[in-house]
Order: sequence, then structure tokens, then C-alpha cells
Amino acid sequence: MLLAPSILAADFANLQNEVEMLNKSQADWIHIDIMDGVFVPNISFGIPVCEAIAKYAKKHLDVHLMIINPEKYVDNFARAGANTISVHIEACQHLHRNLQQIRNLGCQAGIAVNPHTSISQLENVIEETDLVCLMSVNPGFGGQKFIPEMITKIEKARKIIDNQKKIISLEVDGGINLNNISKIITAGAEIIVAGQIIFKSTNPEITIKKIKNILK
Ligand code: DX5
Ligand code: ZN
Repeated sequence: MLLAPSILAADFANLQNEVEMLNKSQADWIHIDIMDGVFVPNISFGIPVCEAIAKYAKKHLDVHLMIINPEKYVDNFARAGANTISVHIEACQHLHRNLQQIRNLGCQAGIAVNPHTSISQLENVIEETDLVCLMSVNPGFGGQKFIPEMITKIEKARKIIDNQKKIISLEVDGGINLNNISKIITAGAEIIVAGQIIFKSTNPEITIKKIKNILK
């Protein structure tokens, strides 16, 4: 069970401190949300900020691309220090090729799935993936409410993944808090992304510790 705090909710004016706090904390990964204002109705930050995070980060960098034409940029993100790169199933004309491209860059390849997208669409690409990122909010913003119907979807995804021979991680992203986390884990999630609940708390390091205790 891994915890991936989402840097989107961090204080961007103190990014170095925020990354150093995550280094010291019990967080496992750092989740980096890239938004282009086209695939999602918001713009976050891009490659130079990812590089700046990588300069100080001592943890696995989990880059979530909420962008169209991700194939144009994955090599830049790999060079910027990404360890895992997830692309949206809804943003890829040639998802199979895109996943191979990510793996050829030496990164783990992830598929991110919007709430409205059926996970049956994973069927023909599952062999090419290392991680499935189920969105439990509509992507674009931090601090949204978890969509309760996503619990059944997590359970379904768990079954699909368990039927595979190779190891594929199941990540859940959006609206996770101390009250719903147990349900999400029981449904089958292995990697928990959490933004606002961590960074907007009075002591993010302690909140990370609290979440990790639930994940144990
Ligand atoms: C949403 C992003 C999430 C977001 C999670 O588009 O992909 O990673 O930062 O943030 P919280 O935990 O605040 O919902
Ligand atoms: Zn994300």
C-alpha cells in the first residue's frame, strides 16, 4: 500500500520546502498533476516545474498527464525525472503505442481512467501497463468530492488486475480523505493519491503518518 501526496495542493511559492517535507515524511511517491487547459478545464504546471521537483525529490515521481497528445511530451517528462507516467485513455488515439513509448523511455506506464469511462476498455491494453489510475473525481481540480459509484469500479478493476499474470498497481485519485480511505482500500486500491487533505492540514507530515497508519 503506497501513499502518493499530490503536489498540486502544495504551496508553489515554497516548492523546495514542500518536496523536502515529503522526503522526510512517510510518503512513498510524489504525485505530479499536469493539466493543459484542453483535456481538463484547468492549467497546472509543466516540464520545468517537474524538473524543479525532481531536483530535490528523493521519492518515486508519479506523473499524471491530463493533456491531449501526450505522446509529444512523454520523453520530456521522462527526462525531467518521471518514474511513472500515466496517460488518459480518453486522450490517446493509439494508447497501445503510447504505453510502449513510455516503457521504452525506462518509465512505468500508467493508464488513467475518467469516472465515466468503462474499465472494460482496458481489456486490450492491460498487458502493456504497469499501473491503472482510477479517477474518483472528474480530473482538473484538487479538493473535489469523491464520487461514491467509484467504489464498485475499483472492485471491478481489482478483479481484472488479479486475473493478469503480471503485477499491475491499482491507484485511486481524487477526493480521498480520512473518512473514505478504508472503503477505498477494502475495494482494492493499492496506491492512494491525496492532495488537499495533506497539504491543507495544519501538519502535513503528521497527516501523512495518520494516512500511512490506516494503510498498514
Ligand atoms: C485531479 C488530480 C488529483 C488531485 C487530487 O485532477 O488528478 O491528483 O490533485 O487532489 P485531492 O486529494 O485534493 O482531491
Ligand atoms: Zn492526479
